[in-house]
Amino acid sequence: MEHSFIMIKPDGVQRGLVGEIISRFEKKGFALKGLKLMSVDRAFAENHYSDLAGKPFFNGLIEYIISGPVVAMIWEGKNVVATGRKIIGATKPADSDVGTIRGDFAIDVGRNIIHGSDSVESARKEIALWFSEGPVNWQSSLHSWIYE
Ligand code: TYD
Repeated sequence: MEHSFIMIKPDGVQRGLVGEIISRFEKKGFALKGLKLMSVDRAFAENHYSDLAGKPFFNGLIEYIISGPVVAMIWEGKNVVATGRKIIGATKPADSDVGTIRGDFAIDVGRNIIHGSDSVESARKEIALWFSEGPVNWQSSLHSWIYE
């Protein structure tokens, strides 16, 4: 089964959106396979966003990510990477549809509440970085009510 790395950024934690965000992934039918509240240092945040090094917004992005605790999660399910991106909405909240997390709760791109892996390959890398212990091994008893 596919996994995605989802991270609630410091603004999402400070604004009390942790429960709301977890609830949206749970209600969809995805299974939580990893969850931790943590603060990351500059080197860790730069590693996570290494693909964006050199972008004009990179330093601001790193300052934002290290400005407070984040909630790191592994979610599992069929097509969870692509569907997770749909649940999250477009990178720029102004372009995010209403009904998505960013469309409902964010205004500025630099305070867009949540991160979600953009491919199965980045999910693999991000889970290895954030969860070296790997996903928690359990299966929801609702499995047969969600998958045919
Ligand atoms: P990116 O990986 O392009 O988007 P996404 O988070 O949707 O996968 O960019 C990572 C983060 O960088 C993005 O969530 C917010 C920040 N960012 C800016 O601050 N300004 C920008 O112009 C862009 C494109 C991103």
